[in-house]
Amino acid sequence: MNVLLNGRSRHFRTVEFDGRRNAVRLIEQRLLPHCFKIVAARDHQATAAAIRDMVVRGAPAIAATAAYGLAQGANEFRGRDRARFERHVSAVFATLQQARPTAVDPVNAMREVLGQMRTGGTVREQQDIAMRAAQAFADRSVAECEAIGRHGAVLIREGMRVLTHCNAGWLACVDIGTATAPLYAAQAAGRQFHVFCDETRPRCQGASLTAWELAQQGIPHDIIADNAAGHLMQRGEIDLVITGSDRVLGRTGEVANKIGTYTKAVLAHRHGIPFYVAIPLSTIDWELVRGFDIPIEERDEAEVLGAWGVAWAPARSRRQRITRPVRVRIANPTSRARNPGFDVTPADLVTGIITPLGILKPGELWTHRQRLGAPA
Ligand code: MRU
Repeated sequence: MNVLLNGRSRHFRTVEFDGRRNAVRLIEQRLLPHCFKIVAARDHQATAAAIRDMVVRGAPAIAATAAYGLAQGANEFRGRDRARFERHVSAVFATLQQARPTAVDPVNAMREVLGQMRTGGTVREQQDIAMRAAQAFADRSVAECEAIGRHGAVLIREGMRVLTHCNAGWLACVDIGTATAPLYAAQAAGRQFHVFCDETRPRCQGASLTAWELAQQGIPHDIIADNAAGHLMQRGEIDLVITGSDRVLGRTGEVANKIGTYTKAVLAHRHGIPFYVAIPLSTIDWELVRGFDIPIEERDEAEVLGAWGVAWAPARSRRQRITRPVRVRIANPTSRARNPGFDVTPADLVTGIITPLGILKPGELWTHRQRLGAPA
């Protein structure tokens, strides 16, 4: 997507690979919306740390990062011994997989790269294949988001008020986004609509990232506190909900997504508001048979007990104004916190899944599994 930097609009992908330096280049999302910076992860451990520490986040974005990270790790190997190379690649895979557990996309992406590597003979061949396979995954992920936009745009009618949760925009993907793709396509078709961004405590990806993206795109929006959605729904001020997902079970249609998604789905159901989930194919888990078994990331309690943002340092002029990241404690000093990062929404609360192949009922994923790329 395009970013306005110093008055100039430039196109960026969230994740890219610098083949010459064997480095993964990422937008440093923890600084947004206050500072736009690209950082380089120079080895696979640094790439795994960038996923773990949420320099890059969002299921399709960490999938592409992991795919590049696997190719990067494969490239780090010196020598021709295939057995040693395979052990090395397995260790790289495990390091990247463990970085964040809930999203299935990184695992699906790395399995794809690994599968293609196996068609190579020598170590050198496999290293080259890994690079091309990671790049192909990233490019296809962008094409899938475009297709999600084409299919999902019909849902956004003139004058609608749309609620979204967390950030399932282009920052969460390689480009374009999943939940935001229909919005961008509807905007391109000339439709006017309004978006409500859930703030999405504790890390506030809605208030910081989605709001920034929509502002960059010129889409009218308001940030709302997470607990305001029920009130707005009750007053008839929300017509549609679209979220992304970190893992949709192909067998049951259950949807894991950022904590608070389930609450919004229950509220939408109570108020008869359609609730859609937009996903690329890498988000589908064809193995698990029940949502209860999805690993839910438990994050540091400090995220709940406090908040962070920026302080404006005094400056002589507006241009010189600099920001300083600050963290403040909100909670009672002696209290502890629980911080599950994701929740699981049952299929009966989901109106439809917007896929690159069209909009399906959650229960139809399994029926269409071949078309949707389930392993044979
Ligand atoms: O913890 P995050 O910021 O990685 O959570 C992101 C989400 O929950 C997104 O909705 C999900 O990854 C889908 S992104 C297209």
